[in-house]
Amino acid sequence: MYKMSAKPMITAEQIQERIRELASDIAESFEFDAILSALTGAYMFTADLSRALAKPQIRIVFIKASSYGDSTESSGQIKVSGLEKIDLKGKRVLLVDDILDTGNTMLALTHMLKDTGAVEVRTCVLMNKEERRTADIHADFVGFEIKNEFVVGYGLDYAEEYRTLPDIWTLEET
Ligand code: IMP
Ligand code: MG
Repeated sequence: MYKMSAKPMITAEQIQERIRELASDIAESFEFDAILSALTGAYMFTADLSRALAKPQIRIVFIKASSYGDSTESSGQIKVSGLEKIDLKGKRVLLVDDILDTGNTMLALTHMLKDTGAVEVRTCVLMNKEERRTADIHADFVGFEIKNEFVVGYGLDYAEEYRTLPDIWTLEET
């Protein structure tokens, strides 16, 4: 069984403040055509980040990536759907995800994107758990460096719950 931490780990205000900084870093250093966002976890972050970027030319596309099932441990197996309908040939793409954990998801998505003909791919994650990395990948833009803790809220789930909370919380085993 799990319970939420007594206080948020990252508040909604802190998230919004960091997103404004991230958006200006990205806008200064990377000119791109499209955001490709990994559902479901990244939906809130993508909505806020894309609004902070606010460029009329940027397209936004979503794919569904899943590895977790109903556990807090990555299965290592990445299921991706929706990429077959997307044409990003010749495009520069900002790949957005909620969290970089083992790195399996980002690595698989980066390869798939290159295979579809994207000319440049840079990655942006709201949170990075550096300690947990097993795949050879890093994110170009990181919102928050976090410890090896399981986090929920602001789009992130545990067994599909907690996603709609505006702050980010840690889950503690009871
Ligand atoms: P990776 O493939 O191990 O890097 O896992 C990345 C995916 O696992 C993320 O896109 C999340 O959906 C999920 N994930 C990893 N850590 C957490 C967490 O602490 N809370 C909720 N989801 C997580
Ligand atoms: Mg995810």
